[in-house]
Amino acid sequence: MRILSGIQPSGRLHVGNFFGMMEPAIRLQDEGEAFYFIADYHSLTTVHDPGTLRGNVRDVAIDFLACGLDPAKATFFRQSDVPEVTELTWLLSTVTPMGLLERCHSYKDKTSRGLEATHGLFAYPVLMAADILIYDSEVVPVGEDQKQHLEVTRDIAGKFNHRYGEVFVIPEPRIRGDKAKVPGLDGQKMSKSYDNTLEIFAAEKALRKKIMGIVTDSTPVDEPKDPAGSIIVDLYRLVAGEAEVEAMEAEFRAGGVGYGDFKKRLFGAFWEHFEPMRARREELLADPGYVDGVLASGAERARAVARATLDRARAACGIGGAP
Ligand code: TYM
Repeated sequence: MRILSGIQPSGRLHVGNFFGMMEPAIRLQDEGEAFYFIADYHSLTTVHDPGTLRGNVRDVAIDFLACGLDPAKATFFRQSDVPEVTELTWLLSTVTPMGLLERCHSYKDKTSRGLEATHGLFAYPVLMAADILIYDSEVVPVGEDQKQHLEVTRDIAGKFNHRYGEVFVIPEPRIRGDKAKVPGLDGQKMSKSYDNTLEIFAAEKALRKKIMGIVTDSTPVDEPKDPAGSIIVDLYRLVAGEAEVEAMEAEFRAGGVGYGDFKKRLFGAFWEHFEPMRARREELLADPGYVDGVLASGAERARAVARATLDRARAACGIGGAP
């Protein structure tokens, strides 16, 4: 089974990325041939400072490795180290109906939040389709918010195959049942663009401050509280065991414990959950050559696969070869 996923280097990784994609992807590296990459071409739509972009790529690489991506099992690389993907994007563009892209929520969301309506932002899903199709991916672990992009990918692959023959594998999204849409501190989907994230590797003081700052209603300490829909309980569920969550829910209902105490408990559980990964990250930070080596050998492996698929697609549509 060929597995593939990508993550944008548009800032520090947050627990939405972790539970929605990274944790399932790390689990899948034992079940098949995994390809995971850092989508720096995609980030050009939002990150416009070259130094920041390179720094973010390095941070994402270190953080993903610290969380358990094993480069002996998964091919880990930077998207732009395989420029073949941009050529495939063009080939795919010629079969992509405008209406398909016009329906994409992500473009509408981003432009309505004030991002410039560039062609890159509009054509973003076609590059994403090329990412997936160029590695003959069968399974793509992603969070709920990428579902539509996977549907677009399947449509584009189908159109190309229909026109030129069976060139591409049609991929399946793998979206987990429970943690595919992790809420942020304000209850909306956790996202850097909503400024509601908990970073996986936030400093202790900053993390505590964010968690203690979660807005709650003004129910007095002694009164019963409703655990359903409480963002504190929802976030606690990510990092605590079933029995601990049930205990917190019961204390909500019983009254006698204030929101501040629940938040402290939430902070403690978060801090503990990521402790082993923080330790691993310290080791990686001390060995920059290791990370460079991982990405270089990943790029080499990925590029060989991508080249073969691109050649197949070029031949199918009459590009290259003897005229
Ligand atoms: P990106 O960088 O926004 O997010 C990376 C992954 O994290 C998931 N995610 C979440 N999951 C649950 N709850 C949340 N609050 C949450 N926030 C983010 C995303 O669903 C995603 O799986 N377009 C992609 C990157 C990409 C890609 C690809 C992915 C480029 N090419 C090819 C798969 C295959 C993106 O922007 O993800």
